[in-house]
Amino acid sequence: MNKLIIEGAHKLQGEVRISGAKNAALPLIAATLLARGWHTIHNVPDLRDTRTMLALLETLGAEWKRESSTLLVNTDSLNNFEASYDLVKTMRASILVLGPLLARMGKTRVSLPGGCAIGARPIDFHLQGLKNLGATLALEEGYVTASAKKHLTGGNVYFDVPSVTGTENILMAAVLAKGETVIKNAAREPEVSNLVDMLISMGARIDGRGTDRLTIQGVTRLKPAEITTIPDRIETGTYLIAVGTAGGEVSVTHCNPSHLPSLIEKLRSAGLIIKESENSLFVSRPAKVQSIDIKTQPYPGFPTDLQAQLMVLMTLANGLSVITETIFENRFMHVAELKRMGAEIKINGNSAIVKGIKQLKGARVMATDLRASASLVVAALAAHGVTEISRIYHLERGYEDIVGKLQALGARVRKEQE
Ligand code: UD1
Repeated sequence: MNKLIIEGAHKLQGEVRISGAKNAALPLIAATLLARGWHTIHNVPDLRDTRTMLALLETLGAEWKRESSTLLVNTDSLNNFEASYDLVKTMRASILVLGPLLARMGKTRVSLPGGCAIGARPIDFHLQGLKNLGATLALEEGYVTASAKKHLTGGNVYFDVPSVTGTENILMAAVLAKGETVIKNAAREPEVSNLVDMLISMGARIDGRGTDRLTIQGVTRLKPAEITTIPDRIETGTYLIAVGTAGGEVSVTHCNPSHLPSLIEKLRSAGLIIKESENSLFVSRPAKVQSIDIKTQPYPGFPTDLQAQLMVLMTLANGLSVITETIFENRFMHVAELKRMGAEIKINGNSAIVKGIKQLKGARVMATDLRASASLVVAALAAHGVTEISRIYHLERGYEDIVGKLQALGARVRKEQE
């Protein structure tokens, strides 16, 4: 296993290029299951999670090749319709093959994801949605078996709370269903719109892109896609916050500032200077940051995937800050590790009360999930002394070349074998 060694309290300076979004690339790769021919997906990050999704597609019979950040995928010769426990347990998003496999093959068997470090994370919305499209479902030996008679039929799907991968799964099932499907209270995340664009380029008929009501008219056949993965808004936000904690001046390029409305607004109220242009952001921290309160919400609200990183910024702010997590029930695992670095944080139900202190101190800490790991990096960059972060395989699931990118910004960071 690898660990990261970070010598903190050095300002970040220079330019960092944002990669394609992991959470967009995963459904785009899954959507290649819907049509024969070679699909082209540009700007795909080379990450543990994208490799896992490609490994899963390979087990189904797909072929793929990578040319730099462009991925070519062909699913002509599918010969298996099962996503095994071994793959699904390493990446929950493997569930994204459920909808497209059912639409293309008429049957599928996908392992249940099981528990997850940040909460129970059920898939009941995915299953209920597919049932409403006429699928027959059974649970056996930890697997969901889904089948459709001749084909799926359009139906109404309503989510109690907007689910990102739930919306994506139902979209991919509905594009080849007979008749009209309406998804109400659909997730409005930019990654969902990226998938809608891909499906439309394949010949799907979808109205309501970017809204909470998606209407899909099923078609009988789709053609291969050419699509570009949107920039990773969570990676973008993580680098912006890192400048907030460590100080310095950084240009964040190849990003999409319009996908981060709540974060940019919040960071400005905390006192960061952020200048926006169409595809880049310039960020600097002129003085000590001020405390702000945040509450995680579905898009366009504050993203849960940036909650842990923003909390680190608040550990160094003037005053008290209240951070409320409304999406996942167990997403404060970074708190215990941050306390080891001197942070003053109290948990009260689904809120964390953070008292700003003068400085964090380096310590040995452990990464527990993807975004918690990112928060430890952001903390370590600001901390006085050396921080050793173990179990960084979590980080490698979602941040492309984080060590190289931080080194280019002048951070003293290196990877070592544990
Ligand atoms: C996606 C993202 C993840 C992000 C999350 C919330 C991907 C691959 N992952 O995860 O990084 O943190 O959105 O923005 O895109 N829920 C149910 N039943 C379901 C589905 C969801 O109760 O069947 C609940 C969840 O427990 C959670 C809420 O709905 O409370 C939203 O979760 P959801 O949007 O589904 O998260 P993911 O799609 O798994």
